[in-house]
Amino acid sequence: KRHLQSTVLAKHIRYEESVKSTQEIAQRLSYEHCPEGTLVIADEQTGGRGRLGRSWQSPKGSGIWMSLILRPDIPLQKSPQLTLLAAVSVAKAIYKTTGMQAEIKWPNDILLNGKKAVGILTELQAESDRIHAVIIGIGINVNVAETEFDPSLRDIATSLKIEGNEDVNRAKLVACIMEEMETLYHEYLQNGFGLIKLLWEGYAESIGKRIRVRTLHEQKEGIAKGITEEGVLLLEDDLGEIHHIYSADIEIPGT
Ligand code: BTN
Repeated sequence: KRHLQSTVLAKHIRYEESVKSTQEIAQRLSYEHCPEGTLVIADEQTGGRGRLGRSWQSPKGSGIWMSLILRPDIPLQKSPQLTLLAAVSVAKAIYKTTGMQAEIKWPNDILLNGKKAVGILTELQAESDRIHAVIIGIGINVNVAETEFDPSLRDIATSLKIEGNEDVNRAKLVACIMEEMETLYHEYLQNGFGLIKLLWEGYAESIGKRIRVRTLHEQKEGIAKGITEEGVLLLEDDLGEIHHIYSADIEIPGT
């Protein structure tokens, strides 16, 4: 906490030893009108949630499992921009604290050497078109050992420690992420999404490449052209038609 320089974000921190999911706690605090920037952090999650209904392994003591509550005055459909803002902030903070160059896989997985080290899950509280809160859940495999991962994940998941061969101080990393987010959040509220989109595209691994997109019901292949102002992925299929991809898993065929 003493590392923190930010003025709004993480001014209020709720620390828990063990919870089902920090998203759940954050949702509740938000309904109780906690201040914007409240951060919920847990040492362990017993029912961590991932995107698309998946679970998120959150072993005790070795990761950063946290949820941040934001209350931006923006239209509902712009909320995915904040997920991208978070991804850029985390990638920057990882570079600053470890020197490792992370890549972002659309929409918001952060990869080290091609394996996933960070997942981000954004949940919304809204009434008709008004946002009550955007809850950004960030899970970072910091010092998770290979043996702590479920065997089914070992080929696709990694941690900062596995890739960098040394322990990373979790408190410092949290502080660094909050400072990066604070800067970008102010930039975003003042000047819009432009700079963040640019930064995001700089970290993105798949832009310009051929990708396969899987949603619940279908799959499509084509070239990832970039993202829109709203953070929606643009996919150009072989007939030259552009598809807007709102939510899916992407893969690079042949890998
Ligand atoms: C993903 O599927 O990639 C997103 C994973 C998000 C995990 C984080 S850990 C902190 C917060 N609490 C949760 O239950 N999930 C998010």
